[in-house]
Amino acid sequence: MRKIYIFDTTLRDGEQSPGVNLNTQEKVEIALQLEKLGVDRIEAGFPAASPGDLAAVNAVARAVKNATIIGLSRSRTQDIDAVREALKGAEDPCIHLFLATSPIHRQHKLRMSKEQVLETAEAAIRYAKQFFSKIEFSPEDAGRTELDFLCEVTEMAIRAGATVVNIPDTVGYMTPVEFGNIFKTLREKVPGIEKIQLSAHCHDDLGMATANALAAIENGAEQIEGTINGIGERAGNTAIEEVALALETRFNYYQAKTTLNLKEIARTSRLVSKLTGMPVPGNKAIVGANAFAHESGIHQDGMLKEKSTYEIISPETIGLVESKLVLGKHSGRHAFREKLIDLGYELDDEALNEAFAKFKDLADKKKQVSDEDIRALLEEKLVDT
Ligand code: KIV
Ligand code: ZN
Repeated sequence: MRKIYIFDTTLRDGEQSPGVNLNTQEKVEIALQLEKLGVDRIEAGFPAASPGDLAAVNAVARAVKNATIIGLSRSRTQDIDAVREALKGAEDPCIHLFLATSPIHRQHKLRMSKEQVLETAEAAIRYAKQFFSKIEFSPEDAGRTELDFLCEVTEMAIRAGATVVNIPDTVGYMTPVEFGNIFKTLREKVPGIEKIQLSAHCHDDLGMATANALAAIENGAEQIEGTINGIGERAGNTAIEEVALALETRFNYYQAKTTLNLKEIARTSRLVSKLTGMPVPGNKAIVGANAFAHESGIHQDGMLKEKSTYEIISPETIGLVESKLVLGKHSGRHAFREKLIDLGYELDDEALNEAFAKFKDLADKKKQVSDEDIRALLEEKLVDT
């Protein structure tokens, strides 16, 4: 089986969501749940950002035993030293260095030439190599970097000692075909590419983060970076649960899998939502409240006959108990009767017809009809007769 490594950055890029600020205890709680979920790598924070973040990364590094712990660093010695400090006590430490490579960033942000970018990144990787055996290097804004320069940067990073080269679509600008082509080109053109792992890091500004990550896998990426619930800077990052379930559900197509313990997905999603204060939209793929809920009568009838008619993933796969048939104005007689049986009512055909008509009247007035509403409707009916 081709394994896809999962690099979780909920505690770093996820924490960069506007309004999110996790304290040390919250970071450790999420990291321990990510360990249960079975992610391979956890980016715990950006130690040079603040003394509090350095302390939090250190607490995560000491608490987690079964995942590589990573600290982010700009390509400068002070940041690298902060990561060294933060990762003291980690079983399996790794530093994540980055430097922007796109013309827009070179010209306006860094004011550096291509040569200066190459020199600065190489010096940082070589400095870090004295202290870390695992080094990931990210050419920030790789998506908008000239492809031949990206090949040059990748070759330099391999020579200098990087063990993973991560390709970020920092601003979520890529389409799947374009993004996949970057991986194909790097695999074909960069000498020594087989010595390192290639990784994809996508943002969701155009809603393509998951599609782009999957395109990267199709073209040779071995690691996917993302966050739980897809939280992150601006529109967020690739949602890890989406990639894992896409690979699981469409294994025949991708021929690749993560080694995540999928049954921990729902629990992890709820914890991240609670501690970050970021609600999960109801229609969010995999973890939204409606992802396994069915309202229309036609769908409910199909589900009651055979679940695969309208469900491509079973809720149990991600640790939920069962799918929900939600009663509303689109629901049909079949689901209504099943609900009555669940609630302990057995009605003959005539009584059922009458109750169903009353239910439809009520459903026209309410967005959703609860068990309590149905009981009230039935009790009223039983008193009437
Ligand atoms: O989006 C990005 O470019 C990043 C880098 C630090 C990898 O988050
Ligand atoms: Zn990012």
